[in-house]
Amino acid sequence: MVRYDVGALSPDMSFLETLDALNERLTLSGADPIAFDHDCREGICGMCGLVINGIAHGPEAATATCQLYLRSFSDGDVIDVEPWRGGPFTVIKDLVVDRSSFDRIIQAGGFITAPTGSAPDANVVLVSKRRSEQAFDAAVCIGCGACVAACPNGSAMLFAGAKITHLGMLPQGQPERDARALAMIAQHDAEGFGAYTQIGECTAVCPKSIQLDLPVRPRRALRAAAPHRLTPPRRAWDGRVSGGERGGGDRQPSWVTARGTVVMNRPRR
Ligand code: SF4
Ligand code: FES
Repeated sequence: MVRYDVGALSPDMSFLETLDALNERLTLSGADPIAFDHDCREGICGMCGLVINGIAHGPEAATATCQLYLRSFSDGDVIDVEPWRGGPFTVIKDLVVDRSSFDRIIQAGGFITAPTGSAPDANVVLVSKRRSEQAFDAAVCIGCGACVAACPNGSAMLFAGAKITHLGMLPQGQPERDARALAMIAQHDAEGFGAYTQIGECTAVCPKSIQLDLPVRPRRALRAAAPHRLTPPRRAWDGRVSGGERGGGDRQPSWVTARGTVVMNRPRR
């Protein structure tokens, strides 16, 4: 633990600007600046992430680190700053951690393969207001990793559940819905993230107020779809998808072969 004196600062400075000011002082004195992640500084990109006084993203609810201001602290406070905690998030340097495990969860299934072409005219694909709002509630996840940092189990299921729900709610995401959920949950487990036990620490620190029921939905849907075939693959979904017509009414749920290939939409015999 290293203690720094940041001097007199405006309460209207953001927390990251405070680190900038400290780094400027360190650089001018010939010392190494403190490495920390950031990008948009608007609560959009999910790059920033610090445990501040023991709380992921700091003391303000629904607030990313980059949107936290010094006015949330008292004059003269000593503030503890740590990198994200959580199994697969290993520290690269100072306050920077390796979050590539999140990228691999997205690579496992966080996409759709339906050709979407250019932007369609409005109302060509009808989506009910309720479904579009549910999808949007999940789509606001910025992938910051605070949920993992706060979870006693080190689970990333709030993140994975948000991505699975977001894509699985929309018509374009339906054909691969089950395969996507299986592959992403399998990758989540393969990365070494912990079990989802609904303690709720994840939701408490989420800067986008993602709700605790989101990770439950994909698992519940999978159980309902394939109760005797819910065997997660031993390795990540390799992207191969085979099967019959997509999105048809006569489809069976997805399942995983012994080789880890997700087979989906096979017509009923
Ligand atoms: S669910 Fe919330 S805390 Fe977790 S990665 Fe997404 S935005 Fe961050
Ligand atoms: S820097 Fe982009 S969300 Fe904080």
